[in-house]
Amino acid sequence: MSDIVASAPGKFIVLGEHAVVYGKPAVALAVDRRFTCRVRRSSRPNVNGRPFERGVHLHLDTIIGRNSCPPVSLETESEIPSGSGLGSSAAMSSAFSAAVRALCGRELDEREIAVDAFEAEYAAQGRASPMDASASTHGGGVVVNGPRGDRPLWSISKNSNTWDVSETDVPEMTFVVGYTGIKAPTGPQVEKVRKYRAKSRFAAEILDEIGQTALEGIGALDCNDVEGLGRLMTHDHKLLSILGVSCKELNKLVNAAERHSYGAKLTGSGGGGSMVALTDDPEAVCKAIALRGGQPFVVRTGEEGVRVSEILQ
Ligand code: MEV
Repeated sequence: MSDIVASAPGKFIVLGEHAVVYGKPAVALAVDRRFTCRVRRSSRPNVNGRPFERGVHLHLDTIIGRNSCPPVSLETESEIPSGSGLGSSAAMSSAFSAAVRALCGRELDEREIAVDAFEAEYAAQGRASPMDASASTHGGGVVVNGPRGDRPLWSISKNSNTWDVSETDVPEMTFVVGYTGIKAPTGPQVEKVRKYRAKSRFAAEILDEIGQTALEGIGALDCNDVEGLGRLMTHDHKLLSILGVSCKELNKLVNAAERHSYGAKLTGSGGGGSMVALTDDPEAVCKAIALRGGQPFVVRTGEEGVRVSEILQ
């Protein structure tokens, strides 16, 4: 009998959240905070010692269903606060998929793991893009529906959307994340945007502009244009605020960080969670965020994607 341990990194979205759900461009970077899953076969399926419940553990249930997985016992450990906008559910899904695939002796195909994690997110959120799932699975830097000439990883389609996912170089730039401390699940934020878009042409135009901003940002990242990228991040925050997914705590941290940054914005689904600033003065940004009640940390990018090890008992 052996345990399988798999881990995957969290991420932050540099540009393009929400619009990417509708097939617009986006870019994300994996960060040095990981989610770890330890699984073993068990006659009494459980999660951290509590009975597994299909309706509660929606992400896990989706992955178990897709993999005809035998009953397992799962222990989790996370360095990524849940609802922080840093991709904890995608990292969990990616790590869990890799772990159960290894447990069943199946090939560890990155695309298949990313699709498992995407479908888990889709089921739990009501809709989703494969952005977070791809960043957690592949690691490094990931672009969705970027300009031609990228290094392609995989393509995923669902309903009327197709997301072409490619790899991008991790920029030599310094990012500081500020966590508001407010847990904000992704599903309700995604649903809020869906409703707004369904009834307003203006919301659809804002989503288009977020996509255009992300496309320009991918170009700025490619040529290490920190000033250009910073300007686009700040502009993106304004667009996301108009869309209704920011909140006063996020705005407070973004405003505080802006004075010492090239640009700053909320990251992830918003409504709480985290913001991110691009800066060459991380100390000043951390101080400004902490003074406004946020929890700052300097992000290390270039993190490896999903990885698996087996522990013999
Ligand atoms: C959440 O990290 C990013 C969103 O765009 C949702 C998604 O892409 O699934 C808000």
